Amino acid sequence: MPKPLRLGVLLSGGGRTLENLLAEIDGGRLANLAEVALVIASRPGIRGIEVGRNAGVPVHLVRRKEFENVGAYSQAMVKILDEAEVDLVCLAGFLSYWILPDRYLGRVMNIHPALLPSFGGTGMYGHHVHEAVLARGGKVSGCTVHFVNNEYDAGPIILQRAVPAFAEDTPDTLAARVFREECIAYPEAIRLFAEGRLRIDRQVVHVEDPNYQP
Ligand code: GAR
Repeated sequence: MPKPLRLGVLLSGGGRTLENLLAEIDGGRLANLAEVALVIASRPGIRGIEVGRNAGVPVHLVRRKEFENVGAYSQAMVKILDEAEVDLVCLAGFLSYWILPDRYLGRVMNIHPALLPSFGGTGMYGHHVHEAVLARGGKVSGCTVHFVNNEYDAGPIILQRAVPAFAEDTPDTLAARVFREECIAYPEAIRLFAEGRLRIDRQVVHVEDPNYQP
């Protein structure tokens, strides 16, 4: 059996995405396929730090404001990821911009709580996304797992899952419906990566799995 993929999970908040990945590793879609090698948190006092520590995962706190510029901050992030021999970086509600060196392109994923390229970009995270969808009277929403490049929410899309959006929804009810799909989409994308089934051709990700059903 090949070695499990070493994941580096980057987070800034509640840690539910990390919790889900840990559960999927512990007997779910990612069993024997992945392990969480480390967590990097962008701010202190967040629940995500506790989720990582309780699972026995090394947690690093790396604060942007401790660095003079984004270049120095990014170098520090990459050093930690390199030292932990991380194979795949998973952004899990991570809100701090860092610059990927070329050798990390195709090795960093993000999950966004809308159907990109709609409702993405600067300032579009968490509840802001769901508020924006409802403010435009959106009839569907969903989640997108994509590879990260150095432009916000603009990397090649790996997979998406859609949900209906209703006029009676609040940002919270829509967020809950979308999050249920996030809990399927992210581990599914990581599984495909771990099995070597994702091929990136410029902005298009091809899933090379005859049994894969989006
Ligand atoms: C998730 O819903 C994720 O899709 C979203 O933040 C939440 C993190 O929750 N990410 C973004 O909005 C990225 N633009 P968590 O901290 O409880 O895992």
